[in-house]
Amino acid sequence: MKLCLAIVVAMFAFAPLVQAQPAGLITNTAGRKTTSLDGQWQMIVDPYESGYYNYRYQPSDNGYFKNAKPKSKSDLIEYDFDKSATLKVPGDWNTQSDQLFFYEGTVWYKKSFDYHRQPDKRVFVYFGAANYLADVYLNGEKLGQHEGGFTPFNFEITKLVRDTGNFLVVKVDNKRRRDAVPTLMTDWWNYGGLTREVMLIETPATFVNDYMVQLKPGSRDHVVGWVRSAGEKLSQRITVRIPEAGVVKSFATDGNGLAAIDFTADLKLWSPANPKLYDVAIEAETDLVRDQIGFRSIETRGTDILLNGRPIFLRGVCIHEEAPLRGGRAYSREDAVTLLGWAKELGANFVRLAHYPHNEFMIREADRMGILVWSEIPVYWTIEWENAATLENARNQLSEVIGRDKNRAAVVIWSVANETPLSDTRLSFLRNLISHARHLDPTRLLSAAMERHYLDPKTQMIDDPLGEFLDVLGCNEYVGWYDGLPEKADGLEWKSKYQKPLVMSEFGGDALFNHHGDSLTRWTEEYQENIYQHQISMLIRIPFLRGAAPWILMDFRSPRRPLPGIQDYGKPTGFISGGGETNKACYVMPRWYRELKKSEN
Ligand code: GCU
Repeated sequence: MKLCLAIVVAMFAFAPLVQAQPAGLITNTAGRKTTSLDGQWQMIVDPYESGYYNYRYQPSDNGYFKNAKPKSKSDLIEYDFDKSATLKVPGDWNTQSDQLFFYEGTVWYKKSFDYHRQPDKRVFVYFGAANYLADVYLNGEKLGQHEGGFTPFNFEITKLVRDTGNFLVVKVDNKRRRDAVPTLMTDWWNYGGLTREVMLIETPATFVNDYMVQLKPGSRDHVVGWVRSAGEKLSQRITVRIPEAGVVKSFATDGNGLAAIDFTADLKLWSPANPKLYDVAIEAETDLVRDQIGFRSIETRGTDILLNGRPIFLRGVCIHEEAPLRGGRAYSREDAVTLLGWAKELGANFVRLAHYPHNEFMIREADRMGILVWSEIPVYWTIEWENAATLENARNQLSEVIGRDKNRAAVVIWSVANETPLSDTRLSFLRNLISHARHLDPTRLLSAAMERHYLDPKTQMIDDPLGEFLDVLGCNEYVGWYDGLPEKADGLEWKSKYQKPLVMSEFGGDALFNHHGDSLTRWTEEYQENIYQHQISMLIRIPFLRGAAPWILMDFRSPRRPLPGIQDYGKPTGFISGGGETNKACYVMPRWYRELKKSEN
C-alpha cells in the first residue's frame, strides 16, 4: 500500500500536502459543531497601544488582555471592558461609529462566554478574518497572532477553555505599513476590525482537519486529492462517500494521517448553466465531515479557456467586498446573494473578487449560483518586493485562501497581483507566489492584472514578462477615463507576446447616479455609458480576449477620492450605486453578454 500510495502522490504531483494549511488546524468549518461568538463585543479604542506597551514602549505583561478588575478600593486599573462601548461582530468599526470612520490603529475587543466542553473533544476558536494584525488571548493567555486582513485563522483552546467565565480578548490593529500586504497605498477603504464571523469549533480528539477532492485537471470522471487527519490516531481508514453518484471509496492514511484519494465516478459536471453540487461525506474511524462539492475541470488551450473541455467566455464584473445598501465591509450570506444576484442580472457568469479574498459566503454562494470566480490576494501596486517577510506574508495569505476555497468548483482563477510595476525583484516575487500556488493546487489557473504599454498611439502591447508564468493574462485599462476620451478606444488594437487567453480585468469610468449631461461631460451617467459603448466595440476586436470584468459592480469607498459632491471619499464608478440604483451604463454590458451567451450555445 505505502509504495502505490507514493506513486499516486507523485503521479498527482501534489506538493508536500502539509503545506496548504491556513493558520491553525481547522481548514474547513463545513459540517462541524460550532458555537457562534458573533454579536456585541466590548471594545477599547487604543491609538497609543497603551493596552499592549508600557511607557517604555516595551510589551507589558499586564496589558488589556488580562481583562483585570480592581480587587480592592485601592487597586489602580485604568480600563474596564465591561463599562466600555461595544462593537458588533462581524463588522468593521469604521461604519459603526462616526468617530472611527477614518480611524486606523488598535482596537481591543473582549467577549465573555461559558462553554461546556465534552471530555474527549477538542475546541478551536475560529476567525473568518480580522483586519489587519490580530493578537488573540483567552483567559489572559496569548493564543497567537495573525497577519492579513482577509483570510481565516484559528487557535486551539482545548486546554485553556473553562466551563464558565471565559474571556476572549483580541487586539486588532489596521495600521497600514510599507512592508505589509497590502502596502500603504490602495484605492479601497481600510475597514478595520473583526470583519467576519467568530466561532468555537468542536472536533473529536483525532479529526479530519483538511481535504481536497477535485477532478484531475483535464478529466471528466477522475477524482483525485487527499484527506488528512490530525490527532493521536493517525493511521486510519478513510471512506469517501458521494451517495448520489454511488461512490463509496476507502483509502488508508499513512503514518502522518495522510491518505491520497483516487477514483473514477460518473459525475454531473459543475458549470454556470448547471451548478451541480454533490453531498460528499468524508468518514474516518474517529470523525465524519460533510461538505457540498462541485466537480468541473478548468484549463487553457492556446488562447482558449476550457470549462469541462469546452471553450467559455468569462462574462464578468469586478466586485469589492462592500455591503450593498448599508455600506461597510460585506460579511453575510445575504450580502453575497444580493451582490452575486446583481452580477447575474448583468448577464455575468464570472466575477473578479477584487483585490483580496472575500468572505466564504461569497464563494459558497458563487458555487451554488453557478458563477465562476477570480480570487486575488492583495499584492497591489508597490509592494516591498525585496522584503523576505513581505514575501512570506503574501505566500501565507495565498496558502490560507487556497486552504479555505480549494474545494469550491466556482473558484477557477488564483490571481497573485494587481497593477504591479515592472522590475526583476517584482518578477521573482510574483514567480515565487505562482509556483507556491501551483504547488498547493495544480487544478486551477493562475493570473494577475499585469502591465501593458503603447507600442504606438494606436496599439496596446502585452509583453509583461510575468505573462510567461501565467495561464491567463489579465489587464486593466481605462481608455476613455484616465486615458483619453471614450472614442479613443475605437481605433485601438491589442497585441500580445503570448499565445494565451486575455481577461480584461478592469475597464470603465465614473458616474454619479442621477448626474446627467452630454456624453462627454465627466461624472455623468451619459459619459460612463459612452465609455462602455466604445469599450465593447474595442474588446470584441481583440482576437485573444476570453473574458471581461468591468470596474465595477457597485460604487465603493476610497480614502483617495475626496472630490466634494461627487466622490466624498467614495468611487462612484459602479453600475449600481451603494443604494442599489442603476446607472445607464448598467444596461450596456447585458446587451453584449446576451450576444456572447447566445454564441456560446
Ligand atoms: C485601478 C485599481 C483599482 C482602482 C481603479 C480606479 O486599476 O486596480 O483598485 O480602484 O484603478 O482607479 O478606479
